[in-house]
Amino acid sequence: MPAQNPRDVRSSEFPTAAPVESQLKFLVNYAIFAPSLYNTQPWSFRILDHTVDIYADRSRGLAVVDSEDRYLTISCAAAIQLFETALKAFGFDFESSLYPDLNDPDLLGRITVRSNKPDHVPDEDMLRAIVNRTTIRRGFRSQSLPSAFRDGFVTRGHPFGVHLQVIESEDAQQLLLDHLLELERIQWEDAHFRREVESWMHPMRERTRDGVPVHRGEPLGPYLWGKYSEAPADATMLVALMLEADTPRAWVEAGRTLMQKLVEASIHGVGAAIIRLMPISVLVRSALCHSAAYTGEPVLLLRFGYPLRRYITSRRTSVDFMRPPGSVN
Ligand SMILES: Cc1cc2nc3c(=O)[nH]c(=O)nc-3n(C[C@H](O)[C@H](O)[C@H](O)COP(=O)(O)O)c2cc1C
Repeated sequence: MPAQNPRDVRSSEFPTAAPVESQLKFLVNYAIFAPSLYNTQPWSFRILDHTVDIYADRSRGLAVVDSEDRYLTISCAAAIQLFETALKAFGFDFESSLYPDLNDPDLLGRITVRSNKPDHVPDEDMLRAIVNRTTIRRGFRSQSLPSAFRDGFVTRGHPFGVHLQVIESEDAQQLLLDHLLELERIQWEDAHFRREVESWMHPMRERTRDGVPVHRGEPLGPYLWGKYSEAPADATMLVALMLEADTPRAWVEAGRTLMQKLVEASIHGVGAAIIRLMPISVLVRSALCHSAAYTGEPVLLLRFGYPLRRYITSRRTSVDFMRPPGSVN
């Protein structure tokens, strides 16, 4: 039986003797710890026999903030990546395909399990990294990042045109901060934008187990760029995620790379603040692309570091996001 509170998931409850279908249903409890825009959790899963289909649930999309479903798609792809991470942690051998049905643009990924090692000891470090990962919202600790994480953070291009660019220059950092503050100010003046965001920050979200129950007014600048005079320079690392193409397929790859990096960080106890960069100003794009010798689309900004305090968001339970095997939608 899946745990009632998703955060209570325990590897010891993995149904070892049950059919693969039940085992996959159990593993969904890890995939849903993926980050998502405003914690909209815009995914749904269908599991039949050895196959898991992961869908974009566009009814949870944000028409104003994310009219093209760019960040919705990235969020769902993060869940696909996390499902695969959980499969590996439990010793499954599997294959994945993205957009397996060209007639169904909502079906983002299909994972088919081939086998699993019956005596496999679950990778508890990995499972803890999945469940404990949270977006940093309340500032960073004044503690150097572990060199194993920093040095292992490869920034060269990933397949399918995903680029991670570490931003060292103070000028570029300041330009980005100015851009984000200005973007936030402009967006917040738009009543439609405000209404939409506020609905995902509503206290009632505690009941629906989604959204981000924080109040606006938490200043973006200090939390992303906080000046900690006593902090070592390497306490945080600022990274832009850029894409060669601004297409749904590229967004899926972005979500997978994002999740991979967040889990790698979480293994070291490191977290990240995540900020949307779109729509990005021409000036900031050219500054970023100039520093990266690269002309892609900057999509997300990540600031890695140790969290000052953890901020836990809720997750819906499986009854909300599982599709019955035979359903059409
Ligand atoms: C694609 C994407 C875009 C996001 N954009 C922002 C953002 O612009 N600002 C922000 O504060 N958090 C952003 N987040 C973080 C989410 O708010 C966070 O993942 C969600 O509330 C769930 O919390 P958790 O990551 O701690 O589990 C983003 C997350 C994703 C996956």
